[in-house]
Amino acid sequence: MKPQRRRRLGVALGAVAGLALVTWLRADGQAQLHAPGPMNARHDDLDCESCHVEADGTLRQQLQTAAKGTLGFATADVDLGYRAVTSERCVACHDRPDDRHPIGRFLEPRFTEARATLGPERCGSCHREHSGTRITVGDSTFCRHCHATVALANDPVDVSHRQLAEQQRWDTCLGCHDYHGNHALHPPQRLSLAIGLDRLRAYFEGGESPYPAPVRRATVLP
Ligand code: HEC
Ligand code: HEC
Ligand code: HEC
Ligand code: HEC
Ligand code: HEC
Repeated sequence: MKPQRRRRLGVALGAVAGLALVTWLRADGQAQLHAPGPMNARHDDLDCESCHVEADGTLRQQLQTAAKGTLGFATADVDLGYRAVTSERCVACHDRPDDRHPIGRFLEPRFTEARATLGPERCGSCHREHSGTRITVGDSTFCRHCHATVALANDPVDVSHRQLAEQQRWDTCLGCHDYHGNHALHPPQRLSLAIGLDRLRAYFEGGESPYPAPVRRATVLP
């Protein structure tokens, strides 16, 4: 298919998905039934509208713009009924100025490859919503994308960071460090004290946190 036709098809499919979303969200009281999947960990009490914000313009105007799009007249993407949920939406509630890995940082050119493979500049890359889990990054070895040459002067750990990297033991990192740096966590100096993969996996899937409390909590907007 030619790129242009593919793009038009994309707009048309987007229109269908957008319309479906409008219908689902407007089925009062039944909303939960129509979400594409169960809410992620601890999001059960949020209203749909706390993430899905209505788009500008009437539905009729949006549909007209979208229809033009399918004919190739409009160039901009059109939001139908509801805007796409962006990372800014997440940050509005989860504002953490001390985040160790703030998404904005990964817009720098040196992270081009990480952006293509991992997408660290978007919350949704690792926390896909409506998946009934907490973390969807898939494997717990993603630190390798950026810390391939990790090495510490006077490394305090019994198996040094340099060794861990050389042996590709990327599955150990989250056993001693959280990702965002929000937990009151003092990384242990012995590999045998690292949190095990089974507990990390359970946490990813929505279970109890293996990291010590407290953690910086979200502020729910009115
Ligand atoms: C915490 C934020 C959040 C809440 C609350 C939320 N959603 Fe979503 N929803 C998302 C995100 C993000 C996506 C895009 C999927 C992804 O993560 O890649 C999405 C996708 C969807 C889609 C698929 C269409 C699309 O635009 O991609 C539907 C339909 C939907 N949500 C309905 C609902 C309904 C109904 C509720 C209330 C029960 C709800 N959502 C609550 C964040 C949220
Ligand atoms: C309206 C406010 C609001 C929005 C918007 C929101 N969240 Fe949340 N989120 C919360 C609350 C409240 C909790 C419960 C735990 C807490 O207080 O941190 C939570 C919990 C979480 C958790 C689990 C935390 C834990 O300790 O178990 C993750 C992960 C998360 N949110 C990611 C996201 C992502 C990604 C988005 C954007 C798609 C998002 N949130 C949008 C309010 C929000
Ligand atoms: C590259 C992957 C990745 C990205 C991008 C990412 N996260 Fe996370 N997130 C994780 C991992 C892994 C954990 C579990 C380790 C931890 O608790 O720090 C986590 C944990 C969390 C938690 C629970 C622990 C805490 O710190 O409160 C929240 C809430 C959260 N993420 C929100 C977000 C939001 C909001 C964004 C976007 C601003 C985001 N994440 C972007 C990987 C990611
Ligand atoms: C997309 C790139 C990227 C990914 C993926 C990534 N990091 Fe980082 N990390 C960074 C950057 C950039 C810094 C800041 C280093 C600096 O300022 O020189 C950092 C810093 C850190 C620090 C030091 C923080 C401090 O307070 O000095 C730790 C610990 C860390 N990362 C652990 C991890 C772990 C564990 C993972 C996997 C779960 C991971 N990182 C994944 C890019 C990344
Ligand atoms: C057995 C626990 C353990 C494991 C496993 C581990 N670390 Fe560490 N890490 C530490 C300790 C202890 C420090 C020393 C600094 C501190 O106490 O925060 C540290 C420091 C770091 C720092 C530098 C922080 C700074 O302040 O400069 C980075 C980056 C880092 N680790 C990344 C990683 C990555 C990536 C992995 C996976 C290959 C990993 N660590 C595995 C315990 C561990």
